Amino acid sequence: MSEKQLIILAHGGAGSDNAHSDGTDRACQLGLELLQARTPVLEAACRVVEILEDDPRFNAGTGSRKRTDGTVRMDAACMDSHRRFGAVSALQHIKNPIHVARHVADSENRLLTGEDALQYALELGFEKVDMTGGNSIAPSTDTVGAVVFDGTKFAAALSTGGTGGSRPGRVGDVPLIGCGLYAGEHGAVCCTGHGESITLNLTAYRTYAMLEQGIAPQEALDIALSWFEDSQDIGLLIVNPNGHAGGSNRSMAWSTLTGAL
Ligand code: GLY
Repeated sequence: MSEKQLIILAHGGAGSDNAHSDGTDRACQLGLELLQARTPVLEAACRVVEILEDDPRFNAGTGSRKRTDGTVRMDAACMDSHRRFGAVSALQHIKNPIHVARHVADSENRLLTGEDALQYALELGFEKVDMTGGNSIAPSTDTVGAVVFDGTKFAAALSTGGTGGSRPGRVGDVPLIGCGLYAGEHGAVCCTGHGESITLNLTAYRTYAMLEQGIAPQEALDIALSWFEDSQDIGLLIVNPNGHAGGSNRSMAWSTLTGAL
């Protein structure tokens, strides 16, 4: 039987320091080990993002930045090429929002928000924690994310503390399907950066549509970056069966790792 190619890409968000790619390297390494242990692709993508959520240098989970009212509200989403999609928005008090999003993907719902999303997480057995303790050392970074290919299927996962200092109630691109992320039979895409611009450009879905048309990941990346003005930070990770690409119009810690099964 022929070998399956495994590909994992992870990023620490548009604006993250390139020197912090040791964190994204570690996340990719875990992703490869999980795929080699035949972990389902959506679970693997979420576990990669969990590593990034636990790294206070990145703006997600533990590193989430505060809103103007001093609260931390997090968004997360995941999707695989079997059209499993789940998201949470404005979630408080949960260390790893990506795993709540994964549970939503397995439920009859697609997006849960606010206090009700917290209630859902607590019912599932997630622990309630104080996320406002000042762990974040992510001064101007954005969403963390990963895209994964297990040789057959694709998945994408994202998590964010949102735009630091933003108005309570504001939600960005992360929990909106086709905006922050998209995965299908032709590949997977995840985005990071200015949420309003990413949303208006339907960035992940339109990038995925290029893969569907046979455009290579690097060319799709260059085209997608051109949709944004210099003042709008944007970064993307893209994978398809033939290759992968990642980049940003800002600094961005990101890594890729390939392997075989
Ligand atoms: N890109 C994350 C956000 O704007 O909330």
